[in-house]
Amino acid sequence: MPKFIGLIGYPLEHSLSPYFQQVALEHYQFDIRYEKWETSPKGLGLVVAKIKEAQNLGANVTVPYKEAVLPLLDELDGQAMLIGAVNTIVKRGNRLIGFNTDAYGFIEALCKEGHFEPEGKGVVILGAGGAARAVSFALVQRKISSLTIINRTFERAKALADSLKGYMAETELGTAVTTLPWQNLSSSEAFDHCQLIVNCTTIGTKYTSQEGQSSLSSEVIPRGILVYDLVYNPWPTPLLQMARKAGANILGGLAMLVYQGAASFRLWTGREAPVDIMLNKAKEISHLKM
Ligand SMILES: NC(=O)c1ccc[n+]([C@@H]2O[C@H](COP(=O)([O-])OP(=O)(O)OC[C@H]3O[C@@H](n4cnc5c(N)ncnc54)[C@H](OP(=O)(O)O)[C@@H]3O)[C@@H](O)[C@H]2O)c1
Repeated sequence: MPKFIGLIGYPLEHSLSPYFQQVALEHYQFDIRYEKWETSPKGLGLVVAKIKEAQNLGANVTVPYKEAVLPLLDELDGQAMLIGAVNTIVKRGNRLIGFNTDAYGFIEALCKEGHFEPEGKGVVILGAGGAARAVSFALVQRKISSLTIINRTFERAKALADSLKGYMAETELGTAVTTLPWQNLSSSEAFDHCQLIVNCTTIGTKYTSQEGQSSLSSEVIPRGILVYDLVYNPWPTPLLQMARKAGANILGGLAMLVYQGAASFRLWTGREAPVDIMLNKAKEISHLKM
């Protein structure tokens, strides 16, 4: 009898995870199927509860439920608790444990594909949602020197900055964290001392009302820095096109997607994920379908 792992989110039409997770499972000849479990907010409780059925091993969680699933789980891993968001659920015995592998995926892609070492660097993050929380905790843990958070809803940026400062007060970490209003995006001063800009907003995503938009113009992007857009669809995003025009290096979100998925795969199966196979599949499908 096959076992099942699900992807919980809404909508899931353009999701790449089922493709690259299934090739990884087939690589080991596991009799496990990775399925889309698309659900409305009303159905979320039921879908999560069903993971406890014998045939199911766990799930990935994506937009918009990464925070909403927290109270539905039996236990949270330390990083998931810190970030306040879960993207991976693992069933152990009859307990559902929540993990966050986005932070790991972000850093792996940054270092391996972006060839960027975060320690001592100045970073600007656009956004303050679930992805921005994972990214900013990951960067602070990797000892960046400064972090500026710019978000449309300023209070959300402040709340994230406060969480980071609270965390650093309990650790040896000492990143200088500041916030700026969204209006500052048109001012190059906001980016003067950074070596990395990370877009953690949804702006520019294909098949949405934000398709074709870029949060930054090429005039404000410093030459020679790295611009990392978590949005992986389309390639390159409008922001990355602006960055290229400005003479910056660019990194899209596809590698992060695969690395976070590879960490989830290890948690469900206990086996090393075949990252190259997964990355090739993700690239192939994204060229075909997007
Ligand atoms: N590559 C990967 O592996 C990976 C992993 C995780 C996430 N992501 C991507 O990262 C993005 C963010 O995900 P999330 O989970 O953080 O979503 P989220 O929690 O819903 O946050 C969305 C963020 O985008 C901002 N935003 C949305 N529309 C905007 C607009 N018109 N103008 C300015 N800001 C706007 C929001 O600002 P407000 O606070 O003002 O609403 C918020 O900061 C998504 O595109 C997601 O697909 C990629």
